[in-house]
Amino acid sequence: MAKRRQFIAGNWKMNKTVSESRELAEKLRAMLDGFDAADIAVCPTFVALAAVADALRGSRIAVGAQNLYWKESGAFTGEISGPMLVAVGCRYAIVGHSERRQYFGETDETVGRRAAAALACGLHPIVCLGETLDERRKGATFDVVRRQMQGAFSGIGPEAIGRVTIAYEPVWAIGTGVNATPEQAQEVHGFLRGLLTEKYGAAAAEALRIQYGGSVKPENARDLLSQPDIDGALVGGASLKAEDFAAIVRSCRL
Ligand code: 13P
Repeated sequence: MAKRRQFIAGNWKMNKTVSESRELAEKLRAMLDGFDAADIAVCPTFVALAAVADALRGSRIAVGAQNLYWKESGAFTGEISGPMLVAVGCRYAIVGHSERRQYFGETDETVGRRAAAALACGLHPIVCLGETLDERRKGATFDVVRRQMQGAFSGIGPEAIGRVTIAYEPVWAIGTGVNATPEQAQEVHGFLRGLLTEKYGAAAAEALRIQYGGSVKPENARDLLSQPDIDGALVGGASLKAEDFAAIVRSCRL
């Protein structure tokens, strides 16, 4: 059925010191060494990237950042650029997470700029989108994710689309313990793939991975990951425990 290799990423958010991050990375490396059925990444805080990249060097677990700025360098106090992330060993960068949209003024336009900047320096962006509970209740889910897609993908041409992952993260499912049902998630993933087909053609749309995020746990991972258009997971809380994250990785369809 699905031809896409599944991809599980852990978003550690603003958790763990550098030494705690290194310790978690080392545990994951030991637990997942030799696991070859999916792509795996962890996204620690900026300050822990170097230590985690060091702990995971030569392993199957890649490293990603949780954000980036779109300029390469300059007078932008407090920001981190794509080339800096590449230099520290990142392969991925999350862009447009709902927490950044909610608390840090991220817009569809700035998400698009960050995604394009990530691609320009060789990173693989994980573009997050998803509706709020209010938007879902109003029946606006498809309109919202369509608008978010248009913003995020405005600067992404056909030559770069192969390096992009989407993470569908309904805001009402993030950190709440209430995940979208596999059917609810599949419905939106299928819709997103349809939008990708319109913009980039069927081959590119079929190849692009769409992760689900929002209260993914070892107990619900297998059901979610068995849906035809769910190609992985972006895991928050459960990625902070090595046993839970490893169990989610092992739930990938083979
Ligand atoms: P939780 O898994 O904690 O719900 O968080 C999901 C998320 O926001 C991942 O980016």
